[in-house]
Amino acid sequence: MQPVRICLEARETTSLHPRYVRCLVKCYDIVLQLVGVWVYSEWYKLGSPKPLQLVELGPGRGTLMQDILRVLQQFGEAGSDLSVHFVEVSEELSCKQEEKLCGVVQSNKDDYEKELYFKKSTTTGGSPVFWYRHLGSVPRSFSVFLANEFFDVLPIHKICKTEDGWREVLIDIDEGDGPHHLRYVLSRAETPATKVFIQPEETRDEIEVSPDAAVLCEELASRIEEDGGIALIMDYGHDGKDSSTFRNLMKHCHLDEQKSLISGFKMLTDPLKMGTRFKFLAFFPAAVKDFLKKHPPAGFYRYED
Ligand SMILES: C[S@@+](CC[C@H](N)C(=O)[O-])C[C@H]1O[C@@H](n2cnc3c(N)ncnc32)[C@H](O)[C@@H]1O
Repeated sequence: MQPVRICLEARETTSLHPRYVRCLVKCYDIVLQLVGVWVYSEWYKLGSPKPLQLVELGPGRGTLMQDILRVLQQFGEAGSDLSVHFVEVSEELSCKQEEKLCGVVQSNKDDYEKELYFKKSTTTGGSPVFWYRHLGSVPRSFSVFLANEFFDVLPIHKICKTEDGWREVLIDIDEGDGPHHLRYVLSRAETPATKVFIQPEETRDEIEVSPDAAVLCEELASRIEEDGGIALIMDYGHDGKDSSTFRNLMKHCHLDEQKSLISGFKMLTDPLKMGTRFKFLAFFPAAVKDFLKKHPPAGFYRYED
């Protein structure tokens, strides 16, 4: 799997000449198809168990799965012996994925209210595709699990060693005059994260922990052990020595961390981005429940019990 590593590392390089970027994009296409060949070859070596479930975590625009399906089709694998299962949180991206794999966006999520998936469609090759919010909802069966640049996006706790002991790095609202709306602060005391995640033998001064990633890895491992399957996880990474990996990439360039914070803030508040769709989670006394159901405040489109 060395080529995958080289290519993903190259994609991160800053200030690339456009021609070099085009070349990398082409290399990346080849890498995705090689992943398809790898999937077929590993599945074949395991005796080609059917039905084959392809499960992808965080499929983005659906490009990787499209390439894998293309490769499998060339080996004569398509249709209903094959099913695709996407774990995705973004409704907008799920439409892009549907368009890419199925040629149209037609599924209506209201049809699937009683199902564990929130959307279902059929690929142009005749295989069913399902969309879920969590891996736990995907049917238990022999599966090929794929995750490309997915574990990277899961939330992390950042923890630092200070003279007073371990402290968590938190994000706070910056009310100063400067251009930054958000800033890093250190927790005043230990937090649940510093108490739970720091091992007594820890030697680093700064660490990052993603409990979500650990839980997912655990679930993937137990599914593969109990139901059979294989997993391929492709991500940026290091060998455990790096301390701070939080960063923002835009158009193949690194943005500094402060800018990352600002761009996140802008995205949430800019009416042209998420601003118009920004949702709030509200808690209110049960006594006003019936009233709110009848007269929901503007913008609160759904009411949860
Ligand atoms: C950086 S993109 C990777 C896209 C694609 N795999 C690629 O390599 O081009 C991350 C993807 O994970 C999805 N995502 C982010 N957080 C998620 C979560 N907690 N559960 C499921 N999907 C998530 C995003 O919507 C997006 O599709």
